[in-house]
Amino acid sequence: MDKNQAESACHDRYSPAATTVEPALCCPVDYDAKWLKAIPQEVIDCDYGCGDPSKYVREGETVLDLGSGAGKICFIASQVVGEHGKVIGVDMNDSMLEVANKFAPVVAETIGFENVEFHKGNITNMQEIINNNDIDVVVSNCVLNLVSNIDKPKLFSELFRVTKGGGRAVISDIVASECVPEEMQNDEHLWSGCISGAMKDTAFVEAFAEAGFEEITVVKHETEPWQTVGGIEFRSMTVVACKADADGNTDAGPDPEAEGGCCGASGCC
Ligand SMILES: C[S@@+](CC[C@H](N)C(=O)[O-])C[C@H]1O[C@@H](n2cnc3c(N)ncnc32)[C@H](O)[C@@H]1O
Repeated sequence: MDKNQAESACHDRYSPAATTVEPALCCPVDYDAKWLKAIPQEVIDCDYGCGDPSKYVREGETVLDLGSGAGKICFIASQVVGEHGKVIGVDMNDSMLEVANKFAPVVAETIGFENVEFHKGNITNMQEIINNNDIDVVVSNCVLNLVSNIDKPKLFSELFRVTKGGGRAVISDIVASECVPEEMQNDEHLWSGCISGAMKDTAFVEAFAEAGFEEITVVKHETEPWQTVGGIEFRSMTVVACKADADGNTDAGPDPEAEGGCCGASGCC
């Protein structure tokens, strides 16, 4: 699957899915209900995520959401960071951006402040949207797998470029138990369905280290596969990866899963 094929497969799949729910794209996730109250049902219906990176966001931070879709993670993060924080969503799909922009003022009215902006752009090249070292925490929910394999190193470099020293990336994505064969990768429906662009789990974690991140922790790795296709298991994983500051220090912050029993150490859950 080359870059153009991957992008056009995503365009064709996610444009109608912005207004008509596509159940095949939904991977069950338990979001904290208290944040969902302020979010219109039309946005919640377009949930095509596979994890909840917003759990790792803190008050006052600047957050970038890669592949923000209809805006759900941005609208949750908006409430978590509060009025002194800021949230930026980037997506390349006009229909998704239309839904996100339509409901941004509604969410702002409900929560009492406005701190979210959405930009059209390709997450493999955000030079014109985001400066170097500008973001406290880069989040993404079920998007990296959709980027062509040839562009994935560029994507991880972009992730590192925009993250502040002392900041972090928190990425939920679908990963594979085995390397996905080329024949499956060339299937546009499997690709746009967040299946055949998935990286092997170990390669996914290594990609953060190759981009320059440190203190890389798998905070969630579902035991049950979301789907099994061609004997390969596809499941959700969430990784926290830190960028060192000028003194070489990293700050992963507390693990919100810890009280629920997850150890928060590498390879946990
Ligand atoms: C599976 S949906 C996830 C949407 C959202 N993160 C959520 O949790 O519901 C994938 C989204 O990523 C966007 N996307 C895929 N590849 C992209 C790219 N290269 N640049 C920008 N957006 C991209 C799609 O347009 C789509 O809105």
